[in-house]
Amino acid sequence: MSTSTIEAPQRARATGYGRKPSTHDATMTEVGPGTPLGEFMRRYWHPVAEAAKIQHVPQKLRILGEDLVIFRDRKGRPGLLHARCAHRGTTLYYGKVEENGIRCCYHGWLFDVEGRCLDQPCEPDGGRHRDQARQPWYPVEERYGLVFAYLGPPQKKPVLPRYDILENVGPEQMLWTHVGGFFATGDSSLSVVPYSWLQMNDNVMDPFHVQVLHSTFSGVQFHQKFALMPKVEFFAVDHGVCYSAVRQLEDGREVDRISSWLMPNIMSVPDIQFASGASSNVAWVVPVDDTSYVTAAVMKLPKGSDSPGIRVNGKRWGEMTEAERQRFPGDFEAQSGQGTISLHSEEHLVTSDRGIMMQRRILEKQIEVVAAGGDPLGVNFDPAKEVHAVRSGNFFRAARATG
Ligand code: FES
Ligand SMILES: [Fe+2]
Repeated sequence: MSTSTIEAPQRARATGYGRKPSTHDATMTEVGPGTPLGEFMRRYWHPVAEAAKIQHVPQKLRILGEDLVIFRDRKGRPGLLHARCAHRGTTLYYGKVEENGIRCCYHGWLFDVEGRCLDQPCEPDGGRHRDQARQPWYPVEERYGLVFAYLGPPQKKPVLPRYDILENVGPEQMLWTHVGGFFATGDSSLSVVPYSWLQMNDNVMDPFHVQVLHSTFSGVQFHQKFALMPKVEFFAVDHGVCYSAVRQLEDGREVDRISSWLMPNIMSVPDIQFASGASSNVAWVVPVDDTSYVTAAVMKLPKGSDSPGIRVNGKRWGEMTEAERQRFPGDFEAQSGQGTISLHSEEHLVTSDRGIMMQRRILEKQIEVVAAGGDPLGVNFDPAKEVHAVRSGNFFRAARATG
């Protein structure tokens, strides 16, 4: 029953009594194997780790609801395998990395980075049938200082994209990478963010919360200019959505801040200190499971730069007390405040949520495309088209006459 069948005056008088049970939108939040969103997400490469941190000690890695281990064999090849050993199921987290792969602690089976079993030391001849045991594995590639993984159907593996703004790193520049909670907290204190990926993804096409949450409600978290209410337009691009947020400046100029969301979970946010020109970063919101995610970020910075980050009331997020977080909430507080998975049946989406509605509609449509056997927007199988152009940036110009 839609709310329109209740007379408006009656609705206005209603108390909390008798509400229907609230629900989340499973199609947009549940990411395990076989779920519509999970199958859709598995058609894209996702950054899962900082390449420099993947060495010879295996690490636990959970992504899209699957428990994996990631390591680098002694030949230098990164490997991403299911954590449960194909023999009798202990975790390869306790395994030992060798020249050609990882050896399970329990009975010593050795797997290479593509899951082939190379040795079964308790069996005659090192396992005459070892070829029959293949440890589940996923392809990985390293780029921009990140390890990307592809968890989808092998025959549908797309080309790993490049982004024009991250290419051509000059001799005085470097790429800074981070996987964890950076885009939720503005620091590196969280390794995993404990609520649904969609809450961060929605935030990407929400320029209005920047004026409230980040600029007036909690003081100035990024830059004073954000306190000006912008004139916002949303527009579709090749495989995503952009907003243009125009602010009139006192010096007679205006600044057009263009921010991008690209399929399926990618953002490029312009510099938050309003540096002029194209954005220098790309970040992904990677679901760990239904109720947690990481942001993986790459930023082109001058060589020798300190790690970027924000301070609120003079403190990094990880240094703030609960009372300070209540007084000066930021993205983490607003988004975690929506619940572990937000109750979408209770939302009242309004004009300023138009960008979020556009994002969700594209996602819903492309989830259907994948369910019907098609290829979703933003995956590309042609190596000649691997570079994606990103529109984001802060663009200053003479103010246009309004009328
Ligand atoms: S459980 Fe891994 S070798 Fe036996
Ligand atoms: Fe934000």
